[in-house]
Amino acid sequence: MTDIENIIGREDLDDLEAILSVSNSDMQSTISIVEDNSDAIFTWNYEKGERPALNKLYEKAKTSMWNGETDLPWDTEVNPEEVVINDMVAQQGMGVSFADFDVAGTPFEKWTELEWLKLGVESNNWTLSQFMHGEQGALICTAKIVETVPWIDAKYYASTQVMDEARHVEVFAKYLDTKMDGYYPVNAHLKMLLDDIVSDSRWDMTYLGMQIMVEGLALAAFGFMHMMTTEPLLKQLLRYVMSDEARHVAFGVLSLKEYYADLSDAEIFERQQFAFEAAVRMRDRFLQQEVWERMEVPVKEAITIVSQTPTRQMFQMMLFSKIVPNCKKLGLLDRNDAWLRRRFEELNVIQFEDLTDTSDEFEKFALSSEELGQTA
Ligand SMILES: [Fe+2]
Ligand SMILES: [Fe+2]
Repeated sequence: MTDIENIIGREDLDDLEAILSVSNSDMQSTISIVEDNSDAIFTWNYEKGERPALNKLYEKAKTSMWNGETDLPWDTEVNPEEVVINDMVAQQGMGVSFADFDVAGTPFEKWTELEWLKLGVESNNWTLSQFMHGEQGALICTAKIVETVPWIDAKYYASTQVMDEARHVEVFAKYLDTKMDGYYPVNAHLKMLLDDIVSDSRWDMTYLGMQIMVEGLALAAFGFMHMMTTEPLLKQLLRYVMSDEARHVAFGVLSLKEYYADLSDAEIFERQQFAFEAAVRMRDRFLQQEVWERMEVPVKEAITIVSQTPTRQMFQMMLFSKIVPNCKKLGLLDRNDAWLRRRFEELNVIQFEDLTDTSDEFEKFALSSEELGQTA
């Protein structure tokens, strides 16, 4: 068995059959139990500010809290169909809308406007649902970091992130519940990744999986949706969530930079493999297989057509625009004969390596005191 097959369970990255064979078997149950395998670590060193960058983030987090109930315009009327139409009009000609597809000779050929509309609504619902489930993953992972990280500055910071993530789950759940028609269950690839992250016993793997990979992708995906949506409540919700996420990714980069500097090649290799596995799981989940099932079109055929469109390929690559520079900053790309660099080349995302990493980008995303409703 090759390295790659060992890690992701298939040899060919694009083996659609293998990707679609993974499905969510645990949809009926309200809870899901995952072994967490870690030791809780006390520290008796209470010296605050030993890690100044983490301390700065912690102080910043304390003054950046917002209230999901009162700081967002929940009285905004949202009609999901109208949102799809407005978004399509706004995006016309940008190559991002289904209206720009050439559907001749495909199962979409006979679709009426109504079906395109339904696809738009389902797709938005699915995307927001997976964001919500990912946010719960972040909530659990960050609570775990509070227990397992050995540094007091990191425990302090992580505790603020727990609060942030609770707020994120809360606002996505409220949006789906009150503005859309319920939510999709967690996607199987996302759940597999979240389970892997939560069950790993090593504290830095929680950071690598969550803060670097999942949140790095979320920051890019939220940014894309924030730019594209015409719905004012969702736009503001994403803006507020992103202001927190940028801090979270910085927390991951700053913590792991210090820790990874002293790891051996063998230890780094395990981190490189973990990062690659996470990248593939996230790429697989964005195929939205559950949406095609609900639309009652042949899933494999639909995905094959959609994946070949330039828009889809651009979107898929763009999701890695934060992850790749952050992995580079952590020294993960080039150790062990550039193993992760070669994997990112195969995923066609290496071109992002020299974009700015996210260690201080949070300043750019920060909410103003007006947005936070604070008076000077
Ligand atoms: Fe979050
Ligand atoms: Fe986060």
